[in-house]
Formats: sequence, structure tokens, C-alpha cells
Amino acid sequence: MAVPEKILREVDKLREQIEHHNRLYYAEDAPQIPDADFDALVLRLEELEGKYDIADKDSPTQRVGGEAIAGFTQVTHEIAMLSLNKVFDEADLQSFEARIKKRLETESAIQYSCEPKVDGIAVSLLYRDGVLARAATRGDGLTGEDITHNVRTISNIPLKLKSAKKNSVIEIRGEIFLGKEGFRKLNETSEKEGGKIFVNPRNTAAGAIRQLDPKKSAKIPLQMYCYSVGLVDGIVLPEKLSEIFALIEKWGLPVNPDRSVKNGIDACLDYCLDLLAKRNDLSYEIDGAVLKVDSLELQQSLGNNARSPRWAMAYKFPAEEKSTSVIDVEFQVGRTGTITPVARLEPVFVGGVTVSNTTLHNMDEIERLGLRIGDRVIVRRAGDVIPKVVKVIPHEGEKKLAKQKPIPMPGNCPACGSPVEKDGDVLYRCSGGIICPAQRKEAIKHYASRSAMDIEGLGSKLIELLVDKEIVKSVADIYTLSVEQLANLERMGEKSATNIITAIEKSKQTTLPRFLFALGIREVGEATALQLVTHIGDLEDIIAADGESLLQVPDVGPIMAEHIRLFFSNGDNVSLIQTLRGCGIAWPLVESGSGDTKPLLGETYVLTGSLELMSRNEAKAKLIALGAKVAGSVSKNTSCVVAGPGAGSKLSKAEELGVKIIDEGEFIALLEDLT
Ligand code: IVH
Repeated sequence: MAVPEKILREVDKLREQIEHHNRLYYAEDAPQIPDADFDALVLRLEELEGKYDIADKDSPTQRVGGEAIAGFTQVTHEIAMLSLNKVFDEADLQSFEARIKKRLETESAIQYSCEPKVDGIAVSLLYRDGVLARAATRGDGLTGEDITHNVRTISNIPLKLKSAKKNSVIEIRGEIFLGKEGFRKLNETSEKEGGKIFVNPRNTAAGAIRQLDPKKSAKIPLQMYCYSVGLVDGIVLPEKLSEIFALIEKWGLPVNPDRSVKNGIDACLDYCLDLLAKRNDLSYEIDGAVLKVDSLELQQSLGNNARSPRWAMAYKFPAEEKSTSVIDVEFQVGRTGTITPVARLEPVFVGGVTVSNTTLHNMDEIERLGLRIGDRVIVRRAGDVIPKVVKVIPHEGEKKLAKQKPIPMPGNCPACGSPVEKDGDVLYRCSGGIICPAQRKEAIKHYASRSAMDIEGLGSKLIELLVDKEIVKSVADIYTLSVEQLANLERMGEKSATNIITAIEKSKQTTLPRFLFALGIREVGEATALQLVTHIGDLEDIIAADGESLLQVPDVGPIMAEHIRLFFSNGDNVSLIQTLRGCGIAWPLVESGSGDTKPLLGETYVLTGSLELMSRNEAKAKLIALGAKVAGSVSKNTSCVVAGPGAGSKLSKAEELGVKIIDEGEFIALLEDLT
């Protein structure tokens, strides 16, 4: 059937629009239309392509993945894909520049293109006449594998360049990766569906790109940042790498927004350190920075070593994954009795800290990992997240296996000997309740902690000692402590003892949300405590609230409501509260509910970077108390971003969208104005 001209024009337009919005969504993180509108465009295109049988392999509708392939075809790189030399400190970076200057026989400042070293897989994309003709992995640098079928499913890689020059060939190189959010969501879904848990974004991306079936690959939201050009024919490129980036970005190719041009190696070092500071805030994982001489002419004069160019250097950041051994697994009893396995590790420096133990969460996790005492494991600490055993390193031989010991859940609580009971599908709990010293210790630690009653000086070690010596049995006993009693303890002077008693006195003047949080009601965190007070009122009202009124409170679901009700229907808890109030604990009365006491009602705030004068939780609680919502990501609906040092992609996004940005000082001034 001849396809009417009008339809062909519509199809062309739709393909262009879809590619455009794909780019805004994936490459620029700034979608202009809602997902539903985007889906409608794709649907219309699919409909026309189906009706007139004009589905083209370069159409964006084909990104979902074509037919599976039988095996990979080898691809020989016309120009070898080199790797990078690496340095770990400033001195070696200085020597890198010294070598360059010596070779070039120059004293003048060198200009560098500075880029994040994205932790993914190196690939080469070949565009013929502006159309994606072939994609290949780096392989050994000389020969890679043809992965065109999978690369076609990656939304931020254009199938056609905006400037499609006839008789031209250009090979674009870059890193394919899986963003942090994509990785998190993937694991979340996989866990829900009982599927496999992915170890890290890099391995997941590497696995996805080497799938034979592109439909499977398409399910992993891969992305790419381009970082260099290989083979070029029929196109004249600018003379600097930074200008090439600007040009290929115009063609629709994704380039890293966090790149920068710097003069001299000192400025490069600043770039590296800034990048390291914002590493956690980036939406993708990096393992360092890459510094490249910007001028192509100078690159040419410097040339290459056997495997790496002399004009580029990787400045590596501390590794976020290391291997170590599991010395033992112990069982910790939490404040509500939950028993958690904790791995004692051969100390290992990972993600910038030394890790010697880490939670294993639950028995299912041990089973999933196939973990035994004595195993060698990979520990991962990315960002500020708690360290995690992500993988057991497979044993080499059967003999070794005999030495590793399985890890059973103990039948009795390691702290009080009470029977351990199963609670739900994965949790185990000590049945000892109040008699269990471990539960008591944890409850008291929580009560005295900074976000709760904030009793300075009453830390974990001291609480453990006081419980072990049976001086403190419940939180109420804190208020019976005397200077003399404390001063009699080992390693405690008269002065520290006096300070602690003063801190206990001082902490009695508190706020109701803090007190409520300190009580340690299951599931009730700081934010919920605040919501309860804001929406219900004073303590008496909260104690008396029935399930229905609790469910009216934002964030409170049926399980949490039930825990709150159960807590206050227990006479012991209510009399403990009375005793504590009798000891002098007091808070100013807060007015409940009405909107007019909430000057930030309807506004959405985003906190990013580090705050120095208050914790994020405090800042969040204050904003909620003023009626604002606190969101995790910036969009055009964000009213204001509070940005501290180290702010990264959220800050850039706010700048891009023209969202109001304030620093911590301005934020504090705002809070003072409003309260
Ligand atoms: S340039 C000749 N730039 O790091 C220069 N590489 O160890 C070749 N990588 O195989 C690479 N981000 O997979 C370059 N901005 C970046 C990079 C980058 C990540 C990876 C790439 C390469 C490896 C080198």
C-alpha cells in the first residue's frame, strides 16, 4: 500500500519529537512534557508504523529490543581503544604535568578537559551518514563485541544524529552505565518479585550490555556519556576536546554535564577534590576524575604509550568495594527485641573508612549470599550508606569449603537467654521483653540520643555500664542518678559526672515530638512524631487517639497506627510516661492542626549538600513543622533548594530550572523569621 505523503510527514515528525523528549528526559534530566503525553506520542507512532508497515529499525519505537541474537560478532576497532594511567595523589598528578611540559618543551599553562570517570563499560558507537550503524564493547582494546542490538534500546543514545552529513563516518566513544536511581529501582522490583539481587550498578550494566536478548537488556535503564572520538571521515572537527563535546552535544549525543575546562594542574586538582566532595550527590557512580590535555594538536605531539595516552590521566578516588574475610557472625538484639546478624570482618579500608563489622540484616540475607563464617566477601560502602556485604567470593577448591562454618539463628537470645521467636517471614525476636538487658540498653540509648532527649555525655558505653551494674533499669532511672554515683564508676571523674547530671537536668526541657520519639514506639520516627503532634495535639490527645484519628495523620498507615495504639493501651507505658513527667520532663504546648500557623504550607523544599549547623533531620523536621513538604529531588514544582557544601546534581538542576536556592545561613534566617 502506498503510504500517503501526509502520513510519512507525521511519522517523521513523531520520530523527531520522541527523540527530542527522550533526550530531554534522559540526557538533560529536564523533561518538558508529562510521561503520559510522551507515551501518547509513542503510541501514535507505533499505530502508524503498524498500519502502514513502515517500522524502521532506526525508529525510536524499536528501542524496546528486536530479536535475540545467537552469539556476539567480533568487531575490530579501527583505532585501538586505549586505557588510562592512574594516580592516587597530588604528587603523582604534579609529575604527570611535569612530564607533559618536559615532552612539549614548554613552561606555559596547559589547558585540560576534566571529566568524571564514570564507572561503567567503555563502548564505541559508529555513525555512518549520521545514523547509528554499529556499537561495540571495548573488549581487549583491539577487538570487541558487536552490541548494536542492545545499544539501540538505550534511550539517551540517538539512533540518528541531528546533523546527518552524507558520506561521513564518526566513531564516538564513551561509557555506558546504570544510574544510582535506576539501580535502586531495579533491585527494589527484583526483590519484590523474588528475583536476583544485583551487586552494583557497574556489573549490572556490564551484564545488560552483553545480553543476547535485547528485550532483556531494554529492561535495564542504561545511559551513556560520550568522552572521545575515534575514527572520523568526512567531518572536520574543532581543535579542542572541549569544543568537540559542545559540538557533539548539539548533534544530540549525551556528554557529561559535570565536565569542566581547567588551566594548569592545580586547578585540575581542585576539580578532582570538588568532584570527590559531591560524589555521593551525583546521580551516577564514579571511581575518579579523568584529566585530558584539551588541545588535539598537543595530544598528537604527546602521543601514546603501549596501552594508554600520555595526554590523559585518571585521578582515582577511594574504592567503594573491597574484599575481606568474615571472622565471625554475632547476633545483636535491638530495642524492640529484633535479632540481627552482624558480620565481624577483618578490618578493611573501603569508601573512605575502615570497616570492621556490618549488619547482615536478616537470615534471608545470609541465605541469599550463601555466607559462612570464614568466607572471603566483597564489602561495599558507597556514599554515606552503611557498609554492606554484597557478595561471597567463590571458593577455589572443595578442601577450603570444609573450613567454612554455617550460620544458624540461635535458639535463645544471646543477651538474656529467653527463647527466640520467629516474627513474620524473615524476622526473629527475643521474647524476653523488659527483662532482656540488651533490649533495655538499646531503648535507653535511643531515649538519650541526640534526636530524642539529647542528653549530652550519656553515650552508649556509659549506658551499657549503668545497665550492667543494674544502676539503671529503665529510662526513668536516669533521673535518679547522682553525681556521686557516676563519679564512682571506672574512668569517670567528678567533673564529667557533674556535666552529665547537668545535661540530664537540661534535657528535661524538651519538645513533645522529641519526647514522643524518645519513647521508642515501634515504627514512630522523628517525622511521624512531629506529624502526630502537629495533627493531633498534646500528649493526652495522642494517648487517647483511636485508630481512625491516627490514620488521618499523614504518613501513618494501618500498621503504624496499630503500634501506636498498642503502645498507649499498655498500662506500664502510660505509667512510665507519668513517672517521667513527675521527674520534671516538660515541653511548651503546641497548637495543633490549623493551616494559618504554617507559613510554608503548600511549598516544597529540597535539602542537598551538607549542613553544618543542624542535621538534615532537624532541618526537615523544622520545615515540616512550618507546613512545607520536603522532597528528595528537584523539579519545577520545587519552591526552594537549601544547598550546603558539596551539593551536586540537585543544585545544578535547581539552577537549570531557575528554582530559588539558599544557603544554610539564609535558611536559618528564614526559620528565625517564620518562628
Ligand atoms: S578516556 C584514551 N574518559 O575508564 C582515553 N575514560 O581506565 C580513554 N572511563 O576504558 C578513556 N570515564 O571505560 C575516559 N571521562 C572518561 C571516562 C573514561 C570512564 C573509563 C573507560 C576507560 C577506563 C580507563
